[in-house]
Amino acid sequence: MVWDNNDRQRIYSGMQPSGVVHLGNYLGALTNWVHLQDDYNCIYCIVDLHALTVRSDGAQFRRKCRELFAMIMAVGVDPARSVLYVQSQVAEHSELAWIFNCYTYMGELGRMTQYKEKSQKHEDNINAGLFTYPVLQAADILLYKTNYVPIGEDQRQHLELSRDLAERFNKVYGEVFAVPDILVPKVGARIKSLQEPEKKMSKSDTSGDGAIIYLTDSPAAIRSKIKKAVTDSDARVAHSPDKPGVSNLLDIYAGVKRITIENALSEIGQCSYGALKEAVADAVAAELEPITQRYNDILADKAAMEDTMHSNAARAKTIAAATMRQVRKKLGLL
Ligand code: TRP
Repeated sequence: MVWDNNDRQRIYSGMQPSGVVHLGNYLGALTNWVHLQDDYNCIYCIVDLHALTVRSDGAQFRRKCRELFAMIMAVGVDPARSVLYVQSQVAEHSELAWIFNCYTYMGELGRMTQYKEKSQKHEDNINAGLFTYPVLQAADILLYKTNYVPIGEDQRQHLELSRDLAERFNKVYGEVFAVPDILVPKVGARIKSLQEPEKKMSKSDTSGDGAIIYLTDSPAAIRSKIKKAVTDSDARVAHSPDKPGVSNLLDIYAGVKRITIENALSEIGQCSYGALKEAVADAVAAELEPITQRYNDILADKAAMEDTMHSNAARAKTIAAATMRQVRKKLGLL
């Protein structure tokens, strides 16, 4: 049995192993993943097949997948309670993706804004995988009869396609797939770049490493980056759209301390910018220290992690294979 309690609703989400996890990923997605474990049966996936749409070196790719796996555990996803696994270790994803390719229209995929953006950005490598990316994502979600998918607004269009495919298939073959709903997190701020606080904190930030706090940053690095964070010349701590830099610092403070913006303001609203930055840096360093510690411990015990990866892939496969048996039967595959 995959879970002790099979009555709970199912959550599914995925993250690409495309770089070191940063504070934006942590406060925007991962803390939410951790909390959802209390109320749902959660399946979290490292979507390495999706990441193949961009070229990378094999050894490095393998390392990034392991590191992301360890980091997701370090922040508090418990692979004994939830299922945490690597997409390519469950072959059913690719199988269902092919089948869904045959049920998806070119026009639907051509309308995807992420495809349009990515193909503009990677003009030298507009591969078919980039085009069918949302089909594989639909396969991820639907294989597990998912009820809710916690993702950002930028993924809404992909989730719509998953819903459409579930309904399209069910209409012809009967109730095979659950139709998933998006779950936009109630809490969890969208953390912005420290250097260009109008833009979200992102691996592809062009203003350099100073814009991003990685979860593995040392306390000294955290302090130095926050000290250099862009603010404004008005020297008044407030949370408002015309003060993106200061608002971002407040969001970070409230996020890592798990308090509201109001409470953050009553704690540090009277500070000078210097003192504000110090308080934010202290809070971030205190939050990240035990995470880094756990992360290093998990990575150090390679055999244990390998074991967890395999047993969790097997748990995922139990569910995925059962769905595929149904699908194959409906389609008449021998
Ligand atoms: N496309 C998602 C992203 O870039 C990652 C992803 C792949 C995903 N498969 C998924 C998210 C299934 C949720 C569910 O963020």
